[in-house]
Amino acid sequence: MPTSSRAFRVLVFSGIFVFVGALASGQAHPPVPEKSAQSASAPAASAPAASAPAAVAPSSEASKYVGAQTCKTCHEEIYNAWEKTPHWKTTLNKEGGPSKQGCEGCHGPGADHVAGGGDKTKIFLFESASTKEINARCMTCHAGGTEHMNAINSIHTQNNVSCISCHSPHHAQTKEFLLVKAQPELCYSCHLQKKSEFEMPFHHRVNEGLVQCTDCHNPHGTVGPKQVRTSATQDAVCFTCHTDKQGPYVFEHEPVKVEGCTSCHIPHGGANVHMLRVSNVNLLCLQCHTSSAPNAKTGGAPAAPSFHSQETFFKSCTLCHNQIHGSNFDPTFFK
Ligand code: HEC
Ligand code: HEC
Ligand code: HEC
Ligand code: HEC
Ligand code: HEC
Ligand code: HEC
Ligand code: HEC
Ligand code: HEC
Ligand code: HEC
Ligand code: HEC
Repeated sequence: MPTSSRAFRVLVFSGIFVFVGALASGQAHPPVPEKSAQSASAPAASAPAASAPAAVAPSSEASKYVGAQTCKTCHEEIYNAWEKTPHWKTTLNKEGGPSKQGCEGCHGPGADHVAGGGDKTKIFLFESASTKEINARCMTCHAGGTEHMNAINSIHTQNNVSCISCHSPHHAQTKEFLLVKAQPELCYSCHLQKKSEFEMPFHHRVNEGLVQCTDCHNPHGTVGPKQVRTSATQDAVCFTCHTDKQGPYVFEHEPVKVEGCTSCHIPHGGANVHMLRVSNVNLLCLQCHTSSAPNAKTGGAPAAPSFHSQETFFKSCTLCHNQIHGSNFDPTFFK
């Protein structure tokens, strides 16, 4: 079953990733990597640097790292702002070593860049990197956990939307999550046509800030289609908020469970009350409860009984069948 194997992977991955969250226990910036790179971090004293790389590389991988304090000497503004972001915590990561710490956790070893007096060709630049390269960098630390387990092959990744299309480690516009823009504007910057759906008469209040795109979607990718999340129990995301619709009921209305909420509702917004797909309820019901004999095309739904004349009285099916999402008392959903 895909469901159980996913749940299993969730457990395994989160186990591996716990250590990153647990880093915040040390004290100050570790002096060791800095010391080992002292000669490189003093630009004036490293005149013969041009010939250095070949000599340095084999001797010690760690000596290519200079530590964030060295970067600060020339990039003080960036450093000071960065120090207030969650990435500052990486400087406390003793286990990961210098390649997982500070500026160089993202930009790679900086010794040659420093020795070259700020040579841009000797350091990893995000602006000129490909989506694949960018994502691979970020994923060296963010591959764990359920949220990112499908990021490598997500629809966004496939379409060259990289981590830094949405996140900016240095110039974020939001307090949380280092976003280049707050939602929903972030998403509308590329999905403008979706905006009008949330302006329809009946809609989830996304533009009003009550519900977010990411409540229903995982922009980092999902197993299922359309990057739609599943709930913690691997069910429809809708149940995370509409818990009363989940049941289990003694008498389930089959399409709610089998075809899902979106067989009757438009998830973003629409012109019909309750965001229904059809403008009046009985037309919706009769899409399935129509043929005289249950058949595969209508999902085996029985026809409305013959005493259901099409007179006005029977026009609103939910007048009588008002527990349409399921009932514990009545097989025809009266109560
Ligand atoms: C989490 C990864 C990450 C870390 C850590 C990081 N950077 Fe960056 N850096 C980036 C990205 C991505 C960009 C591209 C601009 C952006 O998206 O903010 C960038 C851009 C830059 C630039 C280009 C100028 C600019 O303002 O965009 C400089 C300089 C720079 N970083 C220096 C540093 C220094 C110094 C540190 C440590 C204090 C550091 N970076 C830590 C990811 C990182
Ligand atoms: C000796 C001073 C010095 C030190 C130390 C230094 N840099 Fe730089 N860095 C520069 C200069 C100067 C530039 C601008 C080069 C240019 O614009 O051509 C630069 C450019 C950069 C850029 C590219 C900015 C852009 O415009 O895209 C990045 C990224 C960067 N540095 C990161 C780092 C990191 C990370 C460290 C620490 C490992 C570091 N620098 C340490 C001087 C320094
Ligand atoms: C060297 C490891 C490392 C790398 C590489 C790295 N991160 Fe992080 N990132 C962290 C850590 C550690 C945290 C803090 C986690 C925490 O607070 O529990 C973090 C937090 C974040 C957060 C959450 C911020 C918040 O407000 O909660 C975002 C977003 C993020 N990183 C994006 C990125 C992006 C984008 C890249 C690539 C440009 C990247 N990271 C590269 C280690 C890393
Ligand atoms: C299409 C936009 C988009 C892309 C692409 C994207 N993110 Fe995010 N990311 C978000 C948004 C929005 C949030 C806030 C999520 C929320 O509100 O639940 C977030 C949250 C995060 C967080 C913190 C929350 C958590 O549970 O981990 C991290 C870390 C993160 N992103 C890293 C990344 C990395 C790494 C990549 C690239 C592989 C990436 N993101 C690509 C939009 C994006
Ligand atoms: C930098 C542009 C960009 C940003 C920002 C962006 N997207 Fe996308 N998104 C795309 C592209 C390109 C595709 C793939 C083509 C398509 O289906 O439109 C896509 C696809 C999707 C899909 C899947 C569509 C399908 O048919 O399978 C969803 C869902 C989605 N994005 C949601 C979001 C959400 C939610 C946000 C905000 C957190 C967001 N996107 C931000 C560019 C972006
Ligand atoms: C209440 C949950 C919910 C919210 C909130 C939500 N979506 Fe969706 N979205 C869905 C579902 C469910 C689908 C799949 C519809 C289908 O398969 O017919 C979907 C489909 C999509 C698609 C691909 C199909 C299409 O219609 O083109 C995109 C793109 C998308 N959403 C973007 C967004 C953006 C952007 C936001 C925020 C502005 C957002 N969604 C908010 C539930 C939601
Ligand atoms: C068979 C079609 C159908 C399916 C499937 C369906 N609904 Fe409904 N839903 C309706 C109808 C019809 C109404 C209007 C009821 C009325 O007129 O009293 C409604 C009303 C609602 C309402 C507003 C009134 C209320 O009862 O709270 C919510 C919320 C809702 N549905 C959520 C959901 C969710 C969540 C799912 C998936 C678990 C779902 N629906 C699946 C037909 C359906
Ligand atoms: C993040 C929480 C959240 C999620 C997830 C969510 N909803 Fe909603 N939904 C709401 C809220 C809050 C309202 C009430 C809207 C209002 O009053 O503006 C609502 C209203 C509705 C209504 C209209 C109720 C009425 O009385 O007219 C329907 C139908 C509905 N949701 C269906 C869905 C479906 C289908 C999904 C899954 C695709 C879903 N919801 C996912 C929060 C959520
Ligand atoms: C997507 C197709 C579909 C739609 C739309 C739909 N139903 Fe159903 N309905 C079914 C199926 C399938 C069954 C289960 C038949 C079974 O259990 O044999 C069912 C069962 C029922 C039953 C119970 C029948 C019994 O004897 O067990 C009633 C009553 C009912 N639906 C009423 C409605 C009403 C009222 C609406 C409109 C609000 C509606 N249905 C919309 C497919 C649908
Ligand atoms: C005035 C009340 C009322 C209205 C309105 C109503 N029904 Fe019924 N419905 C009933 C009764 C009574 C039964 C029989 C219940 C029983 O057998 O216990 C029934 C049974 C059903 C059954 C079950 C048939 C079976 O073979 O098990 C379906 C399906 C159904 N109705 C669909 C609909 C549809 C579709 C509409 C709207 C066009 C509708 N109903 C409107 C009262 C109503």
